[in-house]
Amino acid sequence: MTAPARPRSGDRTVSEGARAESRPPVEDILTLAGRAPSVHNTQPWLWRVRGTTVDLFGDPNRRLPVQDPEGRNLVISCGAALHHLQVAAASHGWLPRVRRVPDPENPWHVATVRLAPGPTADLGTVDAQTIWQRRTDRRRFTSWPVPEGRVNRLAAEGTLWGAQVFPVNSLAVRRDLLRLAYEADRLQSLDEAARVETAQWRDGSADGVPSDHVPTAASAMEPADRLSRRFEGGTLADPRREPDTTVGGLLLICSWSDDTLAWLRCGESLSAVWLRATQDGMALLPLSQVFEVERTRAAVHEDVLGRLAVPQLLVRVGWPALDATPLPPSPRRPLSDLLVDADVPGA
Ligand SMILES: Cc1cc2nc3c(=O)[nH]c(=O)nc-3n(C[C@H](O)[C@H](O)[C@H](O)COP(=O)(O)O)c2cc1C
Repeated sequence: MTAPARPRSGDRTVSEGARAESRPPVEDILTLAGRAPSVHNTQPWLWRVRGTTVDLFGDPNRRLPVQDPEGRNLVISCGAALHHLQVAAASHGWLPRVRRVPDPENPWHVATVRLAPGPTADLGTVDAQTIWQRRTDRRRFTSWPVPEGRVNRLAAEGTLWGAQVFPVNSLAVRRDLLRLAYEADRLQSLDEAARVETAQWRDGSADGVPSDHVPTAASAMEPADRLSRRFEGGTLADPRREPDTTVGGLLLICSWSDDTLAWLRCGESLSAVWLRATQDGMALLPLSQVFEVERTRAAVHEDVLGRLAVPQLLVRVGWPALDATPLPPSPRRPLSDLLVDADVPGA
C-alpha cells in the first residue's frame, strides 16, 4: 500500500482550497466584532464591505461632545472592534491583513481589513468564544490578590497589539493614579453637561449602559473608596464591601503619540488585555474619566509618567466573586444599521 502523499509546503489542503474559493462569513465576523466594548456603549463604528475587504469607519455622530470632544475614546472603541474583528476572522480561518488609518484625508476611515485564507497562528491564543463571555463588570472585586506576574502578563499581551501597556505595580504610582481618577470623577459629577451626557447614554434598546449592569445605590461605595463612574439608577446587586482602592491590579495603556493611529492601537491593546483577562476568569473595568478631564489627564502625563508616554486609558482587573450572578450581555445595534456603501466623510 502506498502512503498518502504528504502535502508539500505551497500545496493547499482541501479545506484551504475550498476556503480560497469560498467567501469569508463576513456577517458572522462583523457580529462578533460588534460585541466589542465601547465608551458608554455608543458602538461608534460603521462597516463597508466590498468582497473580501472590510473598511472600518468611526461614526462622528456617536461622539460624546462633552466627555470626548477630540474623539479619543471613540477611536479607542473602534480599535477594540478592530481587534475583535481580527480574532473573529482568525477563528473562521481567515487571515486579516490590516491597514490602519489608510486615508490621510479622512481620519474617520480608521482601518481597511483584507481577509485572505491563510495561517492565523500569529494572532495569539485568545479563543473567539471569549468574545461572547466578555462583560464590563462594575461590581466590586474580591480581595483575593492579583499577583504581579498576572498583571505583567496581561500588560505584555496588550503591548503586542501596539500600545505600551504598563503594569502599575508600584504602590506610590497606584496611589497617585487612583487619587487622580477619583478627582476626575468628582469634577465630572459637578459638571452638569457631563452628567446630562452620561444620562443620555443609558438603557437604550440597542445601545447605552443598561441599568442591570450598574450597581444599585444601596450597594454604592463610600465616595473615597469608589473608583467607577457614577451612573444613576442601577439595579445590579453588589453585596461585597471591599474598597476599590485597595483590591485588584491596575494597568495603564499609553501611546507614543496622541493621534488617531495611536488611539486605534490603544483600543486593540485594550481588547487584547480584556479578552485575555476574561479567558483567565478575571473581571475588568476601564476607567476613562481621568483622561476625559483636561487637568487630570495632564497630571498623569506630566507628574506620573514624566512625559515618558501619552496615557490613554486606566484599567482595573480583579477576581469576581465566585457566587456573582452572571451579567446578561449588554445590547448591540443590528448589523444592518452599521453597514454603509460610501465613505464616511471626514468631519
Ligand atoms: C474607551 C472606553 C472607555 C470606557 N470607560 C468606562 C468608564 O470610565 N467606566 C465604566 O464603567 N465603563 C467604561 N467603559 C465600558 C463601557 O461602558 C462598556 O464597554 C459598554 O457599556 C458595553 O458593555 P460591555 O463591555 O459589557 O459589552 C469603557 C469602554 C471603552 C471601550
